[in-house]
Amino acid sequence: MPAVNLNYGTLKENYLFAEIAKRVNAYAALHPEQHLLRLGIGDVTQPLTPSVIAALHEAVDLQSSADTFHGYMSELGYAPLRSAVAAYYRRRSVTLKDSEVFVSSGASDELGDILNLFDRSLDVILLEPAYPAYADANVMDGRTIHYLAASDANGFTPLPPQESMQALIYICSPNNPTGAVFTRELLKQWVDYANQTGSVILFDAAYEAFITRDDIPRSIYEIEGAKTCAIEISSLSKTAGFTGTRCGYTVIPEDLERDGMNLNAMWVRNRTTRTNGVSFILQHGALAVFSEQGQKEVQELLSVYRANAKRFMKALDEAGLNYFGGENAPYIWMKCPHGRSGWETFDLLLEQAQIVGTPGEGFGKCGAGYFRFSMFADPDDIEEAGRRISTVLK
Ligand code: MLT
Repeated sequence: MPAVNLNYGTLKENYLFAEIAKRVNAYAALHPEQHLLRLGIGDVTQPLTPSVIAALHEAVDLQSSADTFHGYMSELGYAPLRSAVAAYYRRRSVTLKDSEVFVSSGASDELGDILNLFDRSLDVILLEPAYPAYADANVMDGRTIHYLAASDANGFTPLPPQESMQALIYICSPNNPTGAVFTRELLKQWVDYANQTGSVILFDAAYEAFITRDDIPRSIYEIEGAKTCAIEISSLSKTAGFTGTRCGYTVIPEDLERDGMNLNAMWVRNRTTRTNGVSFILQHGALAVFSEQGQKEVQELLSVYRANAKRFMKALDEAGLNYFGGENAPYIWMKCPHGRSGWETFDLLLEQAQIVGTPGEGFGKCGAGYFRFSMFADPDDIEEAGRRISTVLK
């Protein structure tokens, strides 16, 4: 019998963003004089908003007095924050009980941890290209993955498969990496498929705040039937600049049951056993995001990234380059010109224009020949990247 998890042996040597960081660091070490224009990993560049900063300071002060000090927090989340998240959903006509909201330390942590609820023999359906952690976390568990191609032909939003299969289904909308958004009608087809087959949808809503169109759902629970088949994982990383601060939330409806087991109750059991929750200081800061003023500030923050996207799309248009996304999403998904691969485009952009992006191949085979730009970059870097791109890629 093996002593360790041999599934690790089937993973690629490095995780995508670790591999890119390695290559970029090697280039930077050879060219210390060059300023790199970082449009690679979707890491935010704007600071936390004033309301959040004030709440974080306040939380530190509260921890300084025995009367207001907090020790262990609830493993499930700070009650006022769970209520604030439920109220945030109510504004979009989604009714949730506070007990259906769990505070997490971020979406990527949760996307890995949540797999503990599922049997290792359960198949996985991945709409590819996809955020690489979906596949890697399941490879670590030894699950079988079925890839469904999201392509130009289906607007990067594929229909459920013809074949009936019970599976764990990943849907990310707005999509990372393609920037595509799933319509209400399409999500309804996925929800019906999941309910019919006994599947569970893991809906990654990390980029929901980028949706400006009223007809595009920001939550899977806007779709009838979703409460019996979907878990939604979201985060403050991309909406409120929490990539380095870490706080997110997960919704598991109390109506979600499989094999006679209740997934909400299972997650309560999991969290109370495997974590002591997110720190009080961070949750107090996160709570400020959901205040009226906090929400105004979030919109101001997002407007920086939206303006980046507009500016960069204009540059791509002027260069005659073909791309998707960028509207209702912080990612732009470019078709690599001249039949180049994503990695060839990566090398070319890095060496000749000092632009860092992400090769489509990093998001799976179906990403081959594409290239992702993150709009979370510094606005001056976006401006400069826009200027340089046409000369290199034309
Ligand atoms: C990305 O660049 O795809 C994401 O920012 C990575 C992450 O959220 O972990």
